[in-house]
Amino acid sequence: MMLKAVILIGGPEKGTRFRPLSLDIPKPLFPVGGLPLIQHHIEACASTPGLKEILLIGFYSVAQIQPFVNDMQHQYNVTIKYLQEFVALGTAGGLFHFRDQIRSGSPDAFFVMNGDVCADFPLVDLYNFHKSLPSSCNSKALVTIMGTEATRQQSLNYGCMVTNKESHEVTHYVEKPNSYVSTLINCGIYIFSLDVFQTIGEIFTMKQEEYYKIGNGNKEAGNLQLEQDILASLAGTGRMFAMQTSNWWSQLKTAGSAIYANRHYLQLYKTKHPERLAISEGAGEHCSILPDVHIDSTASVHPTAVLGPNVSIGPGVTVGSGVRIRESIILSEATIDEHSLILHSIIGRGSRVGRWARVEGTPSDPDPNKPFAKMENPPLFNKDGRLNPSITILGCSVSVPSETILLNTIVLPNKELSRSIKNEIIL
Ligand code: GTP
Repeated sequence: MMLKAVILIGGPEKGTRFRPLSLDIPKPLFPVGGLPLIQHHIEACASTPGLKEILLIGFYSVAQIQPFVNDMQHQYNVTIKYLQEFVALGTAGGLFHFRDQIRSGSPDAFFVMNGDVCADFPLVDLYNFHKSLPSSCNSKALVTIMGTEATRQQSLNYGCMVTNKESHEVTHYVEKPNSYVSTLINCGIYIFSLDVFQTIGEIFTMKQEEYYKIGNGNKEAGNLQLEQDILASLAGTGRMFAMQTSNWWSQLKTAGSAIYANRHYLQLYKTKHPERLAISEGAGEHCSILPDVHIDSTASVHPTAVLGPNVSIGPGVTVGSGVRIRESIILSEATIDEHSLILHSIIGRGSRVGRWARVEGTPSDPDPNKPFAKMENPPLFNKDGRLNPSITILGCSVSVPSETILLNTIVLPNKELSRSIKNEIIL
């Protein structure tokens, strides 16, 4: 058995809701739980038996992605390649463009993973589910979609699937419907049989003809959307199925969702990678830890600091005496000076928070009273043009003076602040 995986990573024009964090680093490489976002995908793929090759498809420059790919090849025993689209081709355009690369070596099937989802990826279950689907020569399963339950109201923001309860066939698929279709939503994780390229090819040809007759808005000729163009057409043909999972799953859209994803990846480490979690060793030379906390081995944390729960401290970070940090991500080379407090915030690379400062944001966690609720990802501004309360984010190389308070504030890179700030974006 031989399997491959494709991770769709998008490009610089995507991930706009993730600014200012994506100004400094491509969003797929933003660290969550101490690892670049898509390293979690790569790790799940590398631990799937028979998976021999991972293809990252996106439109970032090679220079932005290749060092990461080299690093991953060293860490995991699997071939990893970055394939660059010459222009954004859409979520299926890249798959079709690089079809020969995906098909080479005749894998039994290939996974496709959206680079901006976070999850406890059940890849082996997905493959076994797909393999066990009944097939006859004219109705072979082409795709199995990983699905999860959402609330009725939130389902409208996702791809919604109606399935046959017994056969698991997807009989109806609508991407971000205007009115309620189903609470079973598409997680952006799939397994495809190679035969799918015939269907994608037919739809591609049809769309090309349309493009040259009537145009395609501002999109390129080769642009194809997996959800709208392919999945919606496959629904009801007997060739598309859904496997529902109750594993944790979330999307990384806004910076606020990074805090939520960070918490869940740290929680998963408890069973899968306890070595990545810091442990409290009592008073002495180690700081106090309220689980779960990840501290990079190159960070320096004063023994009187108190960290956690749900904190990730990046490489080269310095945390001073008496500092308190919870529900936050501190990116590489940042410095948190003595007695400062960081709550629900992301501190950018190389930023400095002065002594006795308070940096605090408002979390936007899923509603705990609603089963299956997901992150809301509210827009930056509400209807009255006011900033919605959000986590506080410092872009890279920001400096916060001593004895100031930052509350629900977003600061773009390279700013030297001189006062306390509440509910503002500092451009
Ligand atoms: P939004 O809610 O509008 O963000 O939609 P979505 O959640 O369906 O996300 P979208 O379809 O935009 O992207 C899904 C994944 O595919 C993300 O990881 C993107 O980075 C990636 N992606 C989106 N467009 C492209 C593209 O043109 N090429 C490649 N290679 N990847 C893409």
